[in-house]
Amino acid sequence: MEAALLGQRPPMGWNSWNTFGTHINEQLIFEIADRMVEDGYLEAGYEYLVIDDCWAEKVRDENDRLVPDHIKFPHGMKAVADYVHSKGLKFGMYSCAGTLTCAGYPASFDHEFVDAQTFADWGVDFLKYDFCYFPRTADCKTHYRRMAIALKATGRPILLSACNWGVEEPWEWMRGAGAQMYRSTGDINESFRSIMDIADSQEANLGYNGAYSWNDMDMLVVGMYGKGNVAFTGGCTDAEYRTHFALWCLFGVPLMIGADLRGLNEISRELLLNRELIRIDQDPEGRAPYRLWDEKDGRRSYFRHLADGSYVLAYFNPADSEAQVNANFEDAGLPYSAGYALELTDVFTGETITKAEYYNPVVPAHDCLVYRARLVKR
Ligand code: GLA
Repeated sequence: MEAALLGQRPPMGWNSWNTFGTHINEQLIFEIADRMVEDGYLEAGYEYLVIDDCWAEKVRDENDRLVPDHIKFPHGMKAVADYVHSKGLKFGMYSCAGTLTCAGYPASFDHEFVDAQTFADWGVDFLKYDFCYFPRTADCKTHYRRMAIALKATGRPILLSACNWGVEEPWEWMRGAGAQMYRSTGDINESFRSIMDIADSQEANLGYNGAYSWNDMDMLVVGMYGKGNVAFTGGCTDAEYRTHFALWCLFGVPLMIGADLRGLNEISRELLLNRELIRIDQDPEGRAPYRLWDEKDGRRSYFRHLADGSYVLAYFNPADSEAQVNANFEDAGLPYSAGYALELTDVFTGETITKAEYYNPVVPAHDCLVYRARLVKR
């Protein structure tokens, strides 16, 4: 069998949950598919369109197969998949390792093989696989491994997006279980606190993150501005969205947009389509960044090696007022005595500056500065 090589780079796409929750239907998915193509998301790399929970009828059919909700998806899922594919996108769906999905719909516990075949028959390319209602007596690892095999048994390349929220340290074993990505945290909500908590909780696990099995820090909330299913606190600012997207890209993790693409404003669209940040995110080597400096209030700088011999130098200020963030290049591994400087290109403005030995910029509250860095002789 020819290898499908799924998940070579952190998967990118759109997922219905953050904004729409249960309010999904065929028309919405068609319109999102149109936007993904017409507004440049597909071209930028966002290729998976994923329908999350709440798409099914509450009972299986007489052959024990899952059935799409006949009001939300009147033409069935094959028709949805066909439309999504006709746009050049890939089609993702959702099930759960437990007996019910998180929202209470039928799930795949002990139905792994029949459900995997159903998804394959519909033309599904990506399966998000959740962890609600998982029997206490059952073994988590076995059931994720089982779904990975059930998907492979269909013969259709289907990316397995495991979602057990970090239970039993999935970074240590999901790669071995066959999943191309694994949710490592509880659910994101649209708040700066949630964004920073998730990033801080996964930084130490990024050594496991890499090609063919990526640490999924949950769908993006960029551009939601307090609207939708996971917006509980009034939403985030543009600076907070920049920090959120920059952290996900710096960490090299999956980028699944959660906002309604039909109403996204220009500043959020530009952020989600930032070529330099996406290039950093998609770097084929998937190396983890390391910290150069940090303070108790959360201010920190990072350095990351990229495959083409360049680097990332990134500054974050999660504190509530504008403040200096430091980076001494010696701490990156570049002593002044080596005779080099760093040529720094701002990923947001394109401006270039050259700095030797250190660079300690002032960063606005909740904001960041991200540079592509190149070694130059001094
Ligand atoms: C869990 C997952 C979420 C989403 C919901 C759907 O909470 O972590 O990402 O899929 O279930 O019910």
